[in-house]
Amino acid sequence: MNAEGRTRLDRMPEWNALAKHREEFGDTHLRQLFASDASRAERYGVRVGDLHLDYSKNLVDDDTLRLLRELAGAAGVAELRDAMFRGEKINITEDRAVLHTALRTPESAVVEADGENVVPKVHAVLRKMALFADKVRDGHWTGHTGRRIRTVVNIGIGGSDLGPAMAYEALRPYTHREMDFRFVSNVDGADLHEAVRDLDPAETLFIVASKTFTTIETITNATAARRWLLDGLGGDESAVAKHFVAVSTNAEKVAEFGIDTDNMFEFWDWVGGRYSYDSAIGLSLMTAIGPVHFGEMLAGFHLVDEHFRTAPFEENAPLLLGLLGVWYGGFFDAQSHAVLPYSHYLSKFTAYLQQLDMESNGKSTDRQGRPVAWQTGPVVWGTPGTNGQHAYYQLLHQGTKTIPADLIGFARPVEELGPLAGQHDLLMANLFAQGQALAFGKTEEEVRAEGVAEEQVPHRTFPGNRPTTTILAEELTPSVLGQLVALYEHKVFVQGAIWNIDSFDQWGVELGKVLAKRIEPALTEGAAVEGLDASTAGLVARYRELRGR
Ligand code: F6P
Repeated sequence: MNAEGRTRLDRMPEWNALAKHREEFGDTHLRQLFASDASRAERYGVRVGDLHLDYSKNLVDDDTLRLLRELAGAAGVAELRDAMFRGEKINITEDRAVLHTALRTPESAVVEADGENVVPKVHAVLRKMALFADKVRDGHWTGHTGRRIRTVVNIGIGGSDLGPAMAYEALRPYTHREMDFRFVSNVDGADLHEAVRDLDPAETLFIVASKTFTTIETITNATAARRWLLDGLGGDESAVAKHFVAVSTNAEKVAEFGIDTDNMFEFWDWVGGRYSYDSAIGLSLMTAIGPVHFGEMLAGFHLVDEHFRTAPFEENAPLLLGLLGVWYGGFFDAQSHAVLPYSHYLSKFTAYLQQLDMESNGKSTDRQGRPVAWQTGPVVWGTPGTNGQHAYYQLLHQGTKTIPADLIGFARPVEELGPLAGQHDLLMANLFAQGQALAFGKTEEEVRAEGVAEEQVPHRTFPGNRPTTTILAEELTPSVLGQLVALYEHKVFVQGAIWNIDSFDQWGVELGKVLAKRIEPALTEGAAVEGLDASTAGLVARYRELRGR
């Protein structure tokens, strides 16, 4: 690797200008920033598609934003973005193109990887998926005994699970309500057990989703599911073809597993696992919501792709979100970022973002192979808002840490809620209240004015100045979900570009996989494992003792 490459981030004049600005910014309070600029709320808002972003409650002023944009310019964010959209191999450590944006381009577009236009094959797979999804949904795809499929079980892990599982929850009101969809990922047998224990194999279809088709958790669960199916259907191997389909880039391994490659839905090595749920990995989702809604979701993704590709820096929403994170990580020592959806349907959204963000930007070596000397990806965490309010928001309000947060909400409840839709205003009032309380707090004077005893005043004071960005849309539709996910995908991209790391590899997950393989025989057969440290060797011995081995 070229060790010369880009100037180290912390030696760039634009970075140093931000450091200086941070000193000047000091403890400037959001109360001051709002008091001194009546137009702040209006000016610090941006619209992309159906998403309205209010970033006025962030610890920034016009100078901060200008300096951050200058940093993005100097760091080559636009150049790397354009190279990504052009299909260049920007995933340098794996020598791969990064073309998830091609998964949602209209059929008329041309996107080349290695000199080949990939758009026709993307749409060919989408059509194959749609045929399959429709057949399962309308009962024309029948199982081995001729009965229609009632339950679809997706077996996958990481990007082959989190995306479809999250989107299935998010779009529940759009799903085929007479069918059931389940997601199995954990190699803990309890996951598969609980997923299938009440199912009839004759009415169950498994989608085995794995980019590589070598992931141990997925292959182990898929093998067990096949055993369960065959046990339940009398052992006739030909049943597999009616109850198992695969999604993968690896036809050879799919065939080796015993799934007919006619029942395989393909994607390609230029789609990263955590960027893949809009590829064939979304087959379970498409079966749940139908091809039309899936298409609307893809259109939502594409809308934000185009915005990211073409909008000027000043109005570029993913760029802005990315820059805010760079500011907090670099200059406020923020270690984590909370994503707090005020929507029950987004209950798995943050878990999905954890892989997207932390597997992408949890790196400490720059693109030239040098150790970084600046903060990279934050710990991403959070659960639906109101639940969090009664659990960890205490720390957000009065703790010692700076934790920037995104508050996500929708103006309309889904129609299906009927009379329960009446609770929606209360839900959203909580979102707005939290944003206000976090930003502006409650001063000692305000607490005193309420007649609180003097010794209680410090405890009841809220410092405020806790940054939030609010993302508001009219309704959580398939398109809006696509827009939201693309917004975060590109935010992560921007940050990786500035931090000068490869956001598209994931070498950090490999060591654990290798060691687990090595340790397993020690647990089962008592095999001697070379290189076990004293602590792990002791734990293995204790484990065997507890298992009576
Ligand atoms: O171990 C990490 C990882 O490689 C993820 O990046 C990926 O999404 C997941 O495992 C599953 O991989 P696969 O789709 O190949 O089974």
